[in-house]
Amino acid sequence: MTAGPGPATRHVPVAHAGEVPPGTMLMVQVDGTNILLVNLEGVIRAMQGTCSHEYFELDKGFITGDSITCALHMSRFDVASGEALDPPAELPLRTYPVTVVDGRIVLELPEGQVPVNE
Ligand code: FES
Repeated sequence: MTAGPGPATRHVPVAHAGEVPPGTMLMVQVDGTNILLVNLEGVIRAMQGTCSHEYFELDKGFITGDSITCALHMSRFDVASGEALDPPAELPLRTYPVTVVDGRIVLELPEGQVPVNE
């Protein structure tokens, strides 16, 4: 068996699921890059932790339905897709696949620098 082509990925445990109860978010760091975990009704998602508009930590904002709102200029981002829903932000947030393994939140990230839109 040979592995198919494609970027190499790594699986990085970042927190325990109990640290992010439904309706909350938690900022974690991987290699110095902020990543925001958001629990919407029991489903945990991961996205870049700083805004795609200017450098501002998104855990200072708030969960607004299926989106999060950046507290600096109030752009909303879809939690599932990262899409920017309002100006002034235009770029989506990068999102990262999440699995929960034995109660631990594990991110699937490419090898090397964590990709972020800015
Ligand atoms: S820094 Fe987030 S909307 Fe401007």
